[in-house]
This record gives sequence, structure tokens and C-alpha cells, in this order.
Amino acid sequence: MMFQLKDFDFKDKRVLLRVDFNVSLQNGKITDDTRIKAALPTIKQILAQQPKYLIIMSHLGRPNGKCVEDLRLDPVAYGLAELLHKPVIKFDEVYSDRVDNGTNNAQPGSVFMLENVQFHEGEKKKSDEMAKKLASYADYFVFDAFGQSHRDYTSISLIQKYIPSCIGLLMDKELENLQKVVDPQKPFMAIIGGAKADKIHVIKQFMNKADKILFGGTLANTFLLASSKNIGMSRYDVRSRDLAGEILRQSDHNLVMPTDAVVAKKIKQDAQAQTRDLKDIQDDEMIVDIGPKTIELYKKELANAKTIFWAGPIGVFEIEQFANGTKQIAEYLSRLNITTVIGGGDSAAAVVKYGLQDKMTHVSTGGGASLAVISGKEIPALAALQESYEKFKQ
Ligand code: 3PG
Repeated sequence: MMFQLKDFDFKDKRVLLRVDFNVSLQNGKITDDTRIKAALPTIKQILAQQPKYLIIMSHLGRPNGKCVEDLRLDPVAYGLAELLHKPVIKFDEVYSDRVDNGTNNAQPGSVFMLENVQFHEGEKKKSDEMAKKLASYADYFVFDAFGQSHRDYTSISLIQKYIPSCIGLLMDKELENLQKVVDPQKPFMAIIGGAKADKIHVIKQFMNKADKILFGGTLANTFLLASSKNIGMSRYDVRSRDLAGEILRQSDHNLVMPTDAVVAKKIKQDAQAQTRDLKDIQDDEMIVDIGPKTIELYKKELANAKTIFWAGPIGVFEIEQFANGTKQIAEYLSRLNITTVIGGGDSAAAVVKYGLQDKMTHVSTGGGASLAVISGKEIPALAALQESYEKFKQ
């Protein structure tokens, strides 16, 4: 059991809200605001109750406990203010005297945004000091950061210990929709791509669930390397290489890898793209997309599915000449009359870019998070919300 948004009366109360506004930015401008829009129902429902103030916090990128100028939340605060038609007062610190003064002297109904929580080294260390300080700004904590709910960080799973906390509307909606993949109609196929190879930690659980897993992105490169293929200068995850080898040995042939690739010598807008069979990749080339033979192979595999889950773009789709794999797979999925669930900031952004979001069963705001939910891993944010309920129920 956990508290729901409707269980709390926010009138004249101080409310702290954790969202996932880890959006794509280019030259300081938001290129896809899906995650901000997805949090609006919760924000609007809180504000409609006339709280004393609402403080919003999020991470952006992976600054790892340091202040990184390009990862400040100012563009996000502007974006939110435009969508809300209301000023959002942005602080330049996660907490500080300035935040104390600003919140103490708040006009009723003010909306504040703290600086990127991952600028603080306490965020990833589960710091009681940081959690207590953040909790001291509020009477209630609302958790709605679905995209990071699988992480065990201070603002994700520790604040709930100090103040009554509830689940937000986006979290609820995500969990309800993901049920279609938690208990999928078979054959169930997954496509796992993207830049973050740490998705590998749920692949073992996923192998028991999915009839086939098709790979793209950094994870495909890591698996190809683990099976002794030459990937040239391609991005891969050195820490996952051994695990990738172990997974391949246990795979029982339900893992499908690219057979050809689009390669380039740099990842830049003006880069030249070439198509190569894997064996022909040169030492100074990087894999940036799957090739035409792989696209056909993947479509053939997916044609048998009753349920498809896709997390992480297949290639570097932000650059036109590397986008074909991601675009073709997105278009193919949009034509299938089956359950299609898209997970993740970037794969969701790709689907939105091609205008296909309404043709999918569900477009989730979290990639790693939806993988974790589907594979049955404990979700730290949910566990903390349940403990908070036990602690603060009357
Ligand atoms: C995401 O973009 O998938 C989420 O915001 C999680 O980010 P993280 O993988 O850096 O924790």
C-alpha cells in the first residue's frame, strides 16, 4: 500500500515534488519536452489545491556530484513556466541559505525549482543529511519521477523516510500501462538499444521473459565485442564486457545481434556514413546504426510478435544519416496491430520525432525504469513509498 495524490490535502501546505525532467537539450534548448508535459497532470492537480508553495526537483544528465554548467536546470524551468503559464522561480543550488530564504518568504502558490539534484554528491550516496534537508522544505513529498524510479538515490528513495509521501499520477499511469508487458501476450519480443549499456543488468531476467531480444546501440556493440567481432572505434561498455560474454553463453539463441552496420569516422552532423558487413569494419570506424540486412532480419523476427517492448534507439538517430534503423523500426512497429510499448527518454523522443506516438500502445517516459519494472526488479522509489505509508498512516 502507498499514499495516492488524492489522499493528501495540499491546501496551504509546502509540497516537494520529484520529477524526471532529464530532457534532451541542444545548444541550451529543449528538443523534446515529453517528460515535462508528462508531469503536468500531477503539477496541476497539486497547484489546484492552493498549496503554500510547490518545490520541484529533478536530475539532468549524469553530472556525478559536480556542478556542470551545461546541465543546469534553467532551460527546463523556462520550459515548464511556458507550459504552466506561470513563473517558475529557479534556484542555482540544490539547497542553500538562498533556498531557505526564498521558500520562507514565498508568495502563496509559488512554484520553485531546485538546481539539478545530481550536482550534489549526496544524491547518489543516499545521504541522510541531504534527505533531511530537502524534507525540511516540505510537509508532503510527491514522487513522480518514473524515469529514475529504478535508481536508489537520495531524492528517489530516502526523502520518503522523513515526511508523508505519495505516488504521482505519471508513476501510476506508467505502472498500469506496463502491466501489458509485465504479463505479455506471447510471442513477446524486446528491442534493446540506446547509449546506456547499464541496461545489461536486467538482460538476464529479461531473457526468461522474452522469446527474442534484438539489440542495437552501445549494448549491441558490447555484445559483438564479447563475441570477438571487430567493432573498430565503436562505443561500448568496458565494465559490461565480461557479463555480456556470460549472457551470450547462457542465451539459448534468443538474443539477436546486428549482422551489418552503418559506420562513420566521427559522430557529427557532417559525418559520412558507410554501410558495412561486420567483418569489414575498419579499425578507425564506429558503428552508428544497424545496416539494411539487419533491418530486414529484425522486421522478420518482429513479424511473429504479439507484444513488443522497445527501449533505446537503434542508432544515433539525432543525426540524419545514422537514423535509418531507428526510423524504419519505429515505422514498422507503428503498422503492427499488436501491443507495442516504447520505453525511454530517447526512444520516446524518436517516436515523437517521426510523429508515431499515437500509433503505439504506450510510450513510456522511462527506458531503464520500464526495463526494471518489466523484469520484476525491486523499484527503490516504490519500496520507499510503501515504507513511508506504513510509517505515516494514522
Ligand atoms: C533516463 O534518462 O533514462 C532517466 O532519466 C534515468 O537517467 P539515468 O540512467 O542517468 O539514471
